[in-house]
Amino acid sequence: MISTVHRPQVEAVLARLRKREDENDAEGVRKLISAAGPEYENRFRNTSPATFADLAKDISMAVPKETGELLYLLARLNQANGIVEFGTSFGMSTVYLAAAVRDNGGGWVVGTELSADKVADARANVDEAGLSDLVDIRAGDALETLRELPGTVDLLLLDGWPSQSLPLLRLLEPKLRTGSVVITDGLPDPEHCVVDPSTMDDLYEYLRDRTNGYLSVCLPILGEEIELSIRL
Ligand SMILES: C[S@@+](CC[C@H](N)C(=O)[O-])C[C@H]1O[C@@H](n2cnc3c(N)ncnc32)[C@H](O)[C@@H]1O
Repeated sequence: MISTVHRPQVEAVLARLRKREDENDAEGVRKLISAAGPEYENRFRNTSPATFADLAKDISMAVPKETGELLYLLARLNQANGIVEFGTSFGMSTVYLAAAVRDNGGGWVVGTELSADKVADARANVDEAGLSDLVDIRAGDALETLRELPGTVDLLLLDGWPSQSLPLLRLLEPKLRTGSVVITDGLPDPEHCVVDPSTMDDLYEYLRDRTNGYLSVCLPILGEEIELSIRL
């Protein structure tokens, strides 16, 4: 049996998104970083999440192919039927996650995205992949849009602005089922990173402190780090 993620209709969308990223992202990131000025440590620290999303509206920042396939694999392993994605961008990770939900027998993926342009694009991409019956992409700030969910969460992908990841995890915590998986996509190397990397520290600290009810490991993948956590 061929998995949904390898069906031609899905592969075509993923390939198109990858091509767009290859053509646009490097230049977009370079421009954004030079706009941040020489004060690397203060990179966009005083910029609101929405303004920053607007500045980054043409940059995909999508999960690499290997991470996408890992998302699919983890969602299958976990037999996830309820998935939340913080940070949808153009929908690359959404497609991997929704493909897994399809192959798990159905369910839902709720994504969220601050940039209205990206929301429209992501919805069209998910639709083109034949997965829109499973996916609800909500426009706006995740801390608002994810307050109501269709059920308990089997898998949570944290891939929005890092400074909001911990507050979002805390918001969703009551809805994470025991044994659910939390995947935090790491940041690229500083030269290609549009946010201050230290903004991830509080999240990692929280997930690795066993008194908070997670077991968490760091997986280096393609030079980036993914934090893989299970809700105990
Ligand atoms: C790294 S990209 C996500 C990439 C996506 N997961 C993929 O693999 O294609 C981060 C995205 O999160 C969005 N974002 C950041 N903070 C957000 C928030 N508070 N609410 C909703 N979206 C947010 C940004 O606009 C940006 O498009």
